[in-house]
Amino acid sequence: MRIAVLGGDGTGPEVVAEGLKVLKAVARKAGFDYSTDAFDLGGERYLAAGGDPGKASIPVIHDEEIAQLRTYDAIYLGAVGHPKIAPGILEKGLLLRLRFELDQYINLRPVKLYPGVETPLKDKGPSDIDFIVVRENTEGIYTGMGGVQYKGTPAEVSTQINCTTRFGAERAIRYAFELTRRRNSPKKQLTLVHKTNVLTFAGDTWWRAFNEIGEKEYPDIKRDYNHVDACCMWFVKNPEFYDVVVTDNIFGDIITDLAAVIQGGLGVASGGNINPRGVSMYEPMGGSAPKYTGLNVINPMAAIGAMAMLLRETGVHKHDTTLIDAGNRVEAAMMNITPTMNSQAAGKMGLSTTQVGDAVVAAL
Ligand code: IPM
Ligand code: MN
Repeated sequence: MRIAVLGGDGTGPEVVAEGLKVLKAVARKAGFDYSTDAFDLGGERYLAAGGDPGKASIPVIHDEEIAQLRTYDAIYLGAVGHPKIAPGILEKGLLLRLRFELDQYINLRPVKLYPGVETPLKDKGPSDIDFIVVRENTEGIYTGMGGVQYKGTPAEVSTQINCTTRFGAERAIRYAFELTRRRNSPKKQLTLVHKTNVLTFAGDTWWRAFNEIGEKEYPDIKRDYNHVDACCMWFVKNPEFYDVVVTDNIFGDIITDLAAVIQGGLGVASGGNINPRGVSMYEPMGGSAPKYTGLNVINPMAAIGAMAMLLRETGVHKHDTTLIDAGNRVEAAMMNITPTMNSQAAGKMGLSTTQVGDAVVAAL
């Protein structure tokens, strides 16, 4: 297995180092070979190459680098974001560009409360918080369609188009139905989240695709629907109700930050940008956390969890049970360590970044 490693900015390289430490240990135990290549990509390189911090003036990633990334089995990403660079430059120039060009059309975000991890939800525990969100990752308002006219005048007009295709909705929905079947939880339920009462065009495309596919191809799976605003309420009130959730790009972005906080915060939340037939990219959901950079206090659990996902999903993709098993072992080791930590928040863990990595390795 060949893995491309993109440490990125801020605390990205620190948390990625812990995930790689765990990879090395689990590879020895489970008995598989791998190699890693580091790619120097991110805000620091953009500035060093003469990039304008105020607007995108040069590519953040080059076409040749994207071509190289296509040859790997998986990509392991630390964090994107730099305090000196205007919002949007790195996000669009690196993260979104990779998601789109590698056609990583699923953003898979497990929401699982590990043992001993504090949730802000009163009277809820690990048995109540264990679901997964399938976020469409290449369409919606993320495509950058639209524009601005009469900018800077009182007549300024801007549009940001929600580009929804039946094709895009269908492939996300099918992936989610398949996942629901594979999870095989007693609920066996897929919840569509949208806003069909207001987005009567895009919402209706999702709604019809969801019901037609569900009825014809997945009669064994219970179908459920939430408006996105109501979903925010139910995630807090009744998280135990959910099994798998499927939703569009922006709604998925928003509800998974809410979901991350109920599973213990961005220190533990991981995600995978998945192309089921191509190259997928795994990342901790948190950002580059500039104020914690270099202090050895950031929580690497989300990055270690992203490594567990990388192993498991690559295993599913390649029908390789050794890798699936390795991913499960990493997650089991994490669940052994979370109860020994004081908190999942940076600087409050009772352990340093490197000590958390060491503890997970020891638990393997
Ligand atoms: C995420 C992030 C990104 C997104 C940003 C950094 C572009 O918030 O992965 O959820 O909006 O998708
Ligand atoms: Mn987000």
